[in-house]
Amino acid sequence: MTETKNPTKGSNWSYAPSPESSDHFKLKDQYGLFIGGKFVPAASGKRFSTINPATEKVLAHVADAGEKDVDKAVRAARTAYEKVWRKMSGRERGKYLYRIARIIQERSRELAVVESMDGGKPIRESRDLDVPLATAHFFYHAGWADKLPYAFPGKAVRPIGVAGQIIPWNFPLLMVAWKVAPALACGNTVVLKPAETTPLTALLFAEICQEAGLPDGVFNCITGAGSTGAALVKHPGLNKVAFTGSTDVGKAIQKSLAGRTTKLTLELGGKAANIIFEDAAIDQAVEGIINGIFFNQGHVCCAGSRLLVQESVEKEVVAKLKARMAHLIVGDPLDKNTDIGAINSKAQCDRIQDYLKVGQEEGAELFQTNCPIPDKGYFIRPSFFTKVAQSHRIVQEEIFGPVLAIQSFRTLNEALEKANNTPYGLSGGVWTDKGAKIFKVTRGIRAGVIWANTFNKFDPASPFGGYKESGYGREGGRHGLRPYVELS
Ligand code: NAI
Ligand code: MG
Repeated sequence: MTETKNPTKGSNWSYAPSPESSDHFKLKDQYGLFIGGKFVPAASGKRFSTINPATEKVLAHVADAGEKDVDKAVRAARTAYEKVWRKMSGRERGKYLYRIARIIQERSRELAVVESMDGGKPIRESRDLDVPLATAHFFYHAGWADKLPYAFPGKAVRPIGVAGQIIPWNFPLLMVAWKVAPALACGNTVVLKPAETTPLTALLFAEICQEAGLPDGVFNCITGAGSTGAALVKHPGLNKVAFTGSTDVGKAIQKSLAGRTTKLTLELGGKAANIIFEDAAIDQAVEGIINGIFFNQGHVCCAGSRLLVQESVEKEVVAKLKARMAHLIVGDPLDKNTDIGAINSKAQCDRIQDYLKVGQEEGAELFQTNCPIPDKGYFIRPSFFTKVAQSHRIVQEEIFGPVLAIQSFRTLNEALEKANNTPYGLSGGVWTDKGAKIFKVTRGIRAGVIWANTFNKFDPASPFGGYKESGYGREGGRHGLRPYVELS
């Protein structure tokens, strides 16, 4: 049972556990690679296991794809492209995308529970955000499939061919949707590699493609670790690579593609500034700070991981933030009361713990709540640092965990200067009562997405992507179609 203080009366309230059941579906013990419309074992026969990071128990064994499997998948995608998909009318392609969207809806409960079990995110988020947004992405792109000439007026629009897509573990199913929906809508075929800690919803998505009767080879899914991803990038049969993940791997992919005609889009890390002005609605801003950094355990490339607060309200904001953080419940991802679930993997948990040490060694002051956390599994209490300098590693580097760095500023220009003093440029936030300030900040920050008086809002019609070391290319909206078409 989780104890939490009654915010109004100071007495203790207890939440009874409220776990979402997982007996309405059955995971298989083993999953193959999805190539040419069929599940097949890896040529080497090798498998790896994926665990539940909240319990450390193995959920399933998944085929480990090597070079041979990558080659087979790319060939399957090429055949499907040449023989079926590129020739099909947009209207027909759209029907498949609508069908996929509807099956995701039908299987939403299963997908949400599996997403939370495999990756550690709270069921409230997988149920209310990941799965509905993934569905919305397919519906949205289904609508584009037969309207591409209107997206690019006056141009002849052609698909580009076979796309190799590599995705991370923080939004496993949603990233499948962001990558696959525009590619298929534009007439390309796909070989997707999900992250090694979270392959299960991508494999369920492969089942959904089968159920939708998607022609064999249009969507292929190869599971494995970084070496599988690297083998995919190296394959000469790809016309396009799309990657979401760390900046280091993004750079390695760029190098690997140098000298080839394969097109590339990269969606990499971030270190967004969330700027609170003294005239903001402070209580709402505090909710926005919480959402900005603790949503999805802070495993969010566009997380508001740097708080910039105007000096005159710094004390008030920090005090209210502490009070609000005391109510955050860390624990079982399947419990509907849980705010912060499990850290995705031991490696990521260790990385975050390292940053907590580094921050203190650099001289910053750490605050953590004292909420109970489970004995098993990977968990980190919500944390923030004050007394940080712009040069500190915890201000400059992406931590990708529930750890906020708090700095103050006096003037708008100082806020902008600090916000832009980062190698990244993915997102940002501004909280103020004044419209003019919103426009000054949104124009002044070099970032792909900037939210005003809200944070972490996503919509399939709204393009998402970065500048600088956050990568290039956009996903979503009309802009997101561009990397998947050739225009003449
Ligand atoms: P990662 O970049 O290694 O993993 C992302 C995907 O890339 C996975 O599917 C992985 O198997 C694949 N991959 C790894 N090496 C590859 C290679 N050489 N060629 C092709 N594909 C490769 O990220 P990792 O190591 O899991 O996390 C490290 C840090 O990266 C995190 O702490 C976080 O800061 C950042 N990150 C950022 C993400 C974002 O959405 N911006 C997502 C995941 C991680
Ligand atoms: Mg897992």
